Amino acid sequence: MKDNLDNNVNNKENINKILIIDDDVDVMDILSVMLKKYNCDVYTFTEPVSAIEELKSNKYDILILNFLMSPVNGDRIVELVREFDKEIYIILMSTHNDLAPSIELMQKLDIQAYFEKSPRFDELIMLVQGGIKYKQQLNKIKDMGLQLDKYLFDFAKILLNTISAKDHYTEEHSERVSKISVLFAKYLNLDEKDIEALKVSSFFHDIGKIGIPDNILLKEEPLTVSEYDTIKLHPIIGANIFSSTDVFKHIAPIILAHHERVDGTGYPSGLKGNEIPYLARILNICDSFDAIVSKRPYKEKMSLEYGIEQLKLGINKQFDGELINKFIKFIKENRKKIEDIVE
Ligand SMILES: [Fe+2]
Ligand SMILES: [Fe+2]
Repeated sequence: MKDNLDNNVNNKENINKILIIDDDVDVMDILSVMLKKYNCDVYTFTEPVSAIEELKSNKYDILILNFLMSPVNGDRIVELVREFDKEIYIILMSTHNDLAPSIELMQKLDIQAYFEKSPRFDELIMLVQGGIKYKQQLNKIKDMGLQLDKYLFDFAKILLNTISAKDHYTEEHSERVSKISVLFAKYLNLDEKDIEALKVSSFFHDIGKIGIPDNILLKEEPLTVSEYDTIKLHPIIGANIFSSTDVFKHIAPIILAHHERVDGTGYPSGLKGNEIPYLARILNICDSFDAIVSKRPYKEKMSLEYGIEQLKLGINKQFDGELINKFIKFIKENRKKIEDIVE
């Protein structure tokens, strides 16, 4: 990570403007010193009202702010900022996961990343780096105009790569899920528009993991309840990233709903049955199937038959029963192609 970050040093053309709002001056001092080393101009505010005025008058790339502050909490500040700036990359911090903002709030306020304060500020630096890449690519795309779809896809790929740099599984898994989804969508005779939407959404379904701290994302021991709650933010963060671009706005609801279950026990919204977008129900099946049959650090590769049996257990609980029956038929009829993908 440090090498990547150091590449930015001394590249004065690409100075990143970061504004931090926190009532803890010590935290801001440490962050300022750390971030300045990475080609960032850092401006700190303890007082939210003047910070908002500053954000109105000058363009910033990233806003880092504390969730619990007085007299105005971080969520209210973000609400006010979003009224005039939809593009600024927002990282919300809190002192403890128990005090983390709710899923609904993250979604409503279009927050891209969350950081639980700890002495390990290098994790926050990683989140800032993700934000910098996001802004750089967004700016490039804006300048280009033509070939917008292709460049947006590339930009999102770069974001995905920043996750892959720390979590290789996500990259390979995303590619496989995208390939399986496209094949299944064609099998279902979906139109070109839906096939394309499924291809993009399945490739980037876990992109929201960019906003999950490493100590949780890469933890090998079982997660605590609050850590799992943080992981559960990834569909919202991913949807927020995609909803900020006009061209890929339609992808956001699919990414948002990829962990919903037809019995209503999924997340983030607990949607039931047909309330879950059709393409998200397809993505959920392909995502789960790949997770079951592919090799993971803690388990061996499993047979397609085993995958099918496991999917059957989730009929009308996690999965749409009608779609699962079609998916099982599809797997049986395309065994060779699927085996090549999950190999
Ligand atoms: Fe996911
Ligand atoms: Fe996944």
